[in-house]
Amino acid sequence: MITFTNVTKKYNDLTALSNINLTINDGEIFGLVGPSGAGKSTLLRTINKLEELDDGDIVVTKKKQDNSLSDIDKISVRNLKGKDLRMFRKKVAMIFQHFALLQTKNVYYNIALPLKCMHYKKDVVEKRVNELAEIVGISDKLNNKPNQLSGGERQRVAIARALALEPEILLCDEATSALDPQTTKQILNLLKKINKELGITIVLVTHQMEVVKEICQRIAIIQKGKLLEVGKTEDLFLSSSSALKTLVDDQPILPKDGKSIKLYFPRQYTGDSLITRMARELNIDFSIVWGKLENFGDDVLGSLVINVKDKDFIAVLSYIKNEKISFEVLESEGN
Ligand SMILES: Nc1ncnc2c1ncn2[C@@H]1O[C@H](COP(=O)(O)OP(=O)(O)O)[C@@H](O)[C@H]1O
Ligand SMILES: [Mg+2]
Repeated sequence: MITFTNVTKKYNDLTALSNINLTINDGEIFGLVGPSGAGKSTLLRTINKLEELDDGDIVVTKKKQDNSLSDIDKISVRNLKGKDLRMFRKKVAMIFQHFALLQTKNVYYNIALPLKCMHYKKDVVEKRVNELAEIVGISDKLNNKPNQLSGGERQRVAIARALALEPEILLCDEATSALDPQTTKQILNLLKKINKELGITIVLVTHQMEVVKEICQRIAIIQKGKLLEVGKTEDLFLSSSSALKTLVDDQPILPKDGKSIKLYFPRQYTGDSLITRMARELNIDFSIVWGKLENFGDDVLGSLVINVKDKDFIAVLSYIKNEKISFEVLESEGN
């Protein structure tokens, strides 16, 4: 568990992080989301003390491996230094947008590097590099240099290197922002696999909403160094949180007349049967302005914007409320 308490970070006059309180649970894939310059990377980098705090602390707790009842490892990051900090950083790995590989060295060497730094024996290193390459799917490219790899393959190498010392937490800073959509999906699937099979907690910084929806179980929305909202990803999207709305720019253009209502259909709810039934039972006409199906992890969620005549508005609202569907009345610009 990673617990941020009153975390504050300043760069001279600029308050990059202001009083952040947040808990990230073990085994979670947690997203730090917000516009450029919000403080996402700064917050991520406080976890492994790449940034010093001006106030507050981050405490990382972990139940001990041997299951001894009495003890829980409890590490205060702010006070870490020297050997303790080095040991802690072994458990908190990181990957970046631009991969940060050694360009003159081949894939094998790049993955082996952390193991060599820890002075593991050659045969141990070799066995481990082969295992890691297998996990990330890069076994056939061990002799290639980074410039002989695609972007997705480079990120696979960076992930393998990050896993070398068996971390418990993986920090990802815009790890897919330099990749095309299909490669992004493959890397996200790899991160999901690592999270699930190796039980590694993943904290992920991104400005890409498709990344958030695909992989993050919970997110924190950060803006101007402040924490605006924390919650389950689909809840924030379904409730159409106002903090999230400023980040999502796919809002529909609304008709000037009548009232536009956005309906959210959670999970496998059949939205079309609801609206045809409603039209029939209320004996009204309406138009469909906009609709969308989106993947949230393994779930499919839909949203639909309908436009109804002013005279039907009250009846429609009470019908929807009765169905216990999340909805929102949208303001068109003319209103
Ligand atoms: N080393 C630094 N020195 C001074 N200002 C910085 C430094 N790093 C980041 N900042 C500033 O802190 C704010 C937050 O930056 P950052 O965490 O990188 O944002 P994000 O990752 O959300 O885009 C920005 O205004 C940025 O210019
Ligand atoms: Mg950043």
